[in-house]
Amino acid sequence: MAKTRTVFCCQSCGHSAPKWMGRCPACEAWGTMEEEVEAPKSSAGGKGRGAFGAITNSKPQRLNDIAESSIQRNSTGIGELDRVLGGGLVRGALVLVGGDPGIGKSTLMLQAADKIGLLGGRVLYVTGEESPAQTKMRAVRLGATAEELFLVAETSMERVEQHVAEIKPQVLVIDSVQTLFTESATSTPGSVSQLRAVTARLMVLAKGLEISTFLVGHVTKDGSIAGPRVLEHMVDTVLYFQGQRGHAFRVLRAIKNRFGSTNEIGAFEMQGKGLVEIKNPSALFLAERLAGASGSVVVASFEGTRPILVEVQALVSPTPYGTPRRTTMGVDSGRVALLLAVLEKKAGLDVGASDTFVNVAGGMRLDEPAVDLAVVAALASSHIDRPVDAETLVFGEVGLGGEVRAVVAADARIAEARQLGFKRVIMPKNNLKPEEPIEGILVVGVEKVEEMLDALF
Ligand code: TYD
Ligand code: MG
Repeated sequence: MAKTRTVFCCQSCGHSAPKWMGRCPACEAWGTMEEEVEAPKSSAGGKGRGAFGAITNSKPQRLNDIAESSIQRNSTGIGELDRVLGGGLVRGALVLVGGDPGIGKSTLMLQAADKIGLLGGRVLYVTGEESPAQTKMRAVRLGATAEELFLVAETSMERVEQHVAEIKPQVLVIDSVQTLFTESATSTPGSVSQLRAVTARLMVLAKGLEISTFLVGHVTKDGSIAGPRVLEHMVDTVLYFQGQRGHAFRVLRAIKNRFGSTNEIGAFEMQGKGLVEIKNPSALFLAERLAGASGSVVVASFEGTRPILVEVQALVSPTPYGTPRRTTMGVDSGRVALLLAVLEKKAGLDVGASDTFVNVAGGMRLDEPAVDLAVVAALASSHIDRPVDAETLVFGEVGLGGEVRAVVAADARIAEARQLGFKRVIMPKNNLKPEEPIEGILVVGVEKVEEMLDALF
């Protein structure tokens, strides 16, 4: 008989240790280590690797001999979701949709399930959190009418397998993966080992029967249930649904995607009748901009395959205490510190002794180097308290020497700016194409940060 052993498992990152610790040594979260029974090595639980054994042909083949098979994709009927998935839902893909409770994951999944049903797919929606009547109420609110959409309230993985065998869906939605439990793992539902065991079984279902599967996973800050992070390595695609409390704007972002780009974002707005796709996020992001205010600059950021115009805001003010405060939201704080140093040293602006705040409007997160020049412009504008012309847009990467470096997809950024009525673009000189004049918008190329400041102020 296999001996059962207990380990202490971090409910946030999945790190396991033989003894209890107050703080997880891997992710440094406090109070997240919980005792769990370690699954016997032979079961599908544990690290989840066992699951592959059942589905792969383990005889080595020459790479050249392996037949090429094209990936089959189907539309989910929601354009923004298709975009983030890399152009539609791949058959047999396991997709994790993570996000804070109440952000709209169930709403998105139910809307997608309905649309897939209307497009002729058969969907099984497994809910472990709400009763069928509750889900029906939501469906009525969303106007879901698909004939081939099946619903079951279930928390047992074994029973879900039976339902799948009976209904034979093409798409399966598990809402949420943290409520499911399997008898093959002995720990409580929502723990790391249950989560892994359940996901391993779902992977067998998805790959074996070619069922595209969405797993909804809650992110909890206090670690009361294991987070979706512990599953990221097991699934094909990881999407996070994000938004700020009190804002109707939602962004769906791919963190990992075996079938497409990970930079892609999908934009939605939560309304009374569910989530509405935002076809033109730029217009939305710029809608609340205050004209003539210093410290505000619009940047064209490239997200996946499309440019999005976003407002970068900065506030520079004398510090009341000895050490200046630096706060950033939506951009990397290390990057902002670097840009402040460049401003100080290369452009001669005395910003080092001031409190500095940088924010990206609308709750967006920008991790692209092309945002640098806009951050510099916003900081400088606030520091000297002079607004940047509202019809000017800025993008470019800034190097340590204060040089402005070329970025990708300059043409697409300029085109988006022109479409939204901008009259002037300040961008890296190396991105200029003098042989291809652009009509309707003035394009200014700069080589150094000082040149940009001269052009702006
Ligand atoms: P939900 O999809 O239940 O979130 P999650 O599954 O991520 O926990 O969304 C819940 C919130 O969305 C809730 O606060 C109400 C709001 N909502 C709307 O504003 N409009 C709608 O049509 C629906 C269905 C929900
Ligand atoms: Mg939900």
